[in-house]
Formats: sequence, C-alpha cells, structure tokens
Amino acid sequence: MTVSALDVATVREAYPILRELAYFNTGTYGLMAEPVLTRYLENVASFERQGLRVDLALRSQIEASRERIAARINACPSEIALSGNATDGVAYVAAGLDWQPGDEVIISNQEHPAMNYPWQYAAQRDGIVLKRFPVHFDPCENLKAIESLLTDKTRLIGASHVTSPTGIRLPVKEICDLAHAHGALAFVDGAQSFAVMPIDVQEIGCDFFTSNCHKWLGAPKGTGFLYARQALMERLQPAYVGAGSAESFSFENGLVLQPSGKRFEFATRGFAVPASISLAFDWFDQLGWTQIFDRIAYLSTYLKHQLQEIPGVELGTPIEWERSSGLVNFRVVGRDETALQERFETAKLYPRTLGKGSEKIRVSTALFNDEDEIDRLVRCVREFVQAG
Ligand SMILES: Cc1ncc(COP(=O)(O)O)c(C=O)c1O
Repeated sequence: MTVSALDVATVREAYPILRELAYFNTGTYGLMAEPVLTRYLENVASFERQGLRVDLALRSQIEASRERIAARINACPSEIALSGNATDGVAYVAAGLDWQPGDEVIISNQEHPAMNYPWQYAAQRDGIVLKRFPVHFDPCENLKAIESLLTDKTRLIGASHVTSPTGIRLPVKEICDLAHAHGALAFVDGAQSFAVMPIDVQEIGCDFFTSNCHKWLGAPKGTGFLYARQALMERLQPAYVGAGSAESFSFENGLVLQPSGKRFEFATRGFAVPASISLAFDWFDQLGWTQIFDRIAYLSTYLKHQLQEIPGVELGTPIEWERSSGLVNFRVVGRDETALQERFETAKLYPRTLGKGSEKIRVSTALFNDEDEIDRLVRCVREFVQAG
C-alpha cells in the first residue's frame, strides 16, 4: 500500500484538539473540521436570527445534502430519508413493514444496539422470530452460519457492513445475494463504513442501507440517512407522520404519503443540521475521497502491523483491509483494559475500552490521525506489556 497523497499537515490544522491529544474515537463521535464548523454555525445562527427568511435557502441545502448522499452511494435522491442517526434507519424498517407473527429476521451476534434493540423490540411487539449468526473472520464461515439459519419464514437478513466491536468487514454483497435467493430482504448497517470506503448500494445489492453522517463524515451530530430501494420506500409505513410527510392530504380523500424518503421528514426541525451535511461533503470533496479512504486504510494497517508484533497482544480485527475498516480491536491477553486505558489517558491518547472486563480496546484511525500518534499508542501498549 502506498502512503496517500492527502495533505496531512493541512488536514490536522483543521482539528485543533489534535494539538492536545490523539483522538482515536471517530467510530464513536466524529470530529468536525473547523471550516465545516464555521459554516455550520453560520447556518444555525442565520436560521435562529432570521427564521422564515432563510427557510428556502436551508431547504435547498437539505436537498443538496440528500443529493450528495445519494450520489455517493449510487442511489436516487428519492430513495434517501434523512434521519437523525443510523439507528433511526433501522427503526424505520423494523417499525415500518407489515410483520406477521412467526416472520424470521436474522442478524449477527456483533450488532450495535442500533440493530439489536429495534429488532428485539419487533420480536416482543410483533412476534417476529429473531435469530443471530456468529461473526467469523472468514467471510465463508459467515455465509455458512447464515445459511444454517435460513428457513422459508426468513423475511430479512440484517448485518453491519463493519461490525462495531471488532471492525470486521462482513461480506455484505454475498449476504444480500443469499437473502434474495431465499426471497428475503437485505438490510445493511453502514454506520462504520460510510465515508470510510466506497459504497455502491447497487453493487452491494441491499434493499436498505442505513448510516449516520456524524462519525466518519464529520457532519453535525444528529445526522444520518436511510436508503431504501424505491419500491420498498413506498412500502415503508412511518410510525409517525406530519406536515411534510404527505404528497396530499384532505379529510375527504385521506392522506397520501410522499413516495420518497421525505415521508419520514416532517414538522419543524433544526433545518440547519441536515442542511450542513453538504458542508462536510464540501470538505471531503476538497481533500479527495480516494485520498481519505487510502489514508484510513493505510493508518489502520500500519497500526495492526505494529500491534501484532507485541507478544501477548491479540488482534480482534483482520489485518487485510478488504476484511476490515478504520476500526482496530485488540486486547492484551489476561490484562485489565482499564489499567491500559489509564496509561493512554496519561499519554494523551484517546482510544476506547469495550466494556469492563472485556480486556478490549478499540482504536479508530481517521483521516486526521498520523503515524506519530500511532507510534505513541503502540509504545504505550508495549510498555504496559513489559511492566507486567
Ligand atoms: C455498526 C454501528 N451501527 C450503528 C451505530 C449507531 O449509530 P447512531 O448513534 O448514529 O445511531 C454505531 C455506533 O457506534 C455502530 O457502530
């Protein structure tokens, strides 16, 4: 892999916190680049100060956000519902289809609560049967595990594109093929893959793809989207509706929902927030998407190669970029992760632990991280291991 052409010094200047600490938590909360933040705050201020006077301008920026998301994943704008986060997209589908008791849904055993909660809730509320397949490093094992759970009642297979705890990239294209071969729908949670790698929903073949924009894209917190194939978007019944959701409304003729994702968008909102997704796109366009993707891949691989050299360190993420992402999971076998996290904090390094007693640490390598930060993190782990 070649070192990317991203102008790292310029990029790092746009994230002032990096002068104080190494931020390794983009997989939790992304950082907004200063040029994006300045314009985002201007959007917020102009709406708060001028109200209706800037409504049209903000609405046209919202449509620009929708169009740019659609273009980035090879979808049509009408197939995009702008949401508040990735979880919303799961809920729109789990609550929006006509489930019958006994319908079966298969998800993985490494899903984020974003998937686990809505599907478990649908199991309790609608009587669907929820099944989980164990995630493996090996893509073939994942497919075999799913196959063993398929029945003629399987209605949907849902999986993270990149799993939250381990950063394993699942073979989503093959999973979607498998779902369709059995007459089931395919749902992909792309919270950890969007703005990390190229996404083409046509190539993946998914019926639904959800993500947020506030992690890897660095758009405002509270932004996300659901892609639903047009025919399916028209089948999704929002649990709530309001002004904006309907193509037409009268008490005589009833309410006809928008055929597009707008059926989920209604009433007064913080319009400056979804409008400003487009500003994060401007930043990524300026830097170059390919350069950003290459940079994340390079840093993630650089980190894993060093960690695997340390005796007692076990990687929970595959080395190969094609099977992984910007998330790196590792543990120091038999050692308390909180003690290691304390060392990190003293050294001004901010990865995160994955639960008490898990021994596990997760490091997100984003476009703004650099080799020096990774070297410092690796040194910290090495010293921790040597100190016993
Ligand atoms: C795979 C995955 N899905 C969903 C989410 C939740 O994202 P949001 O808070 O935007 O709903 C996360 C966040 O960590 C995640 O890793």
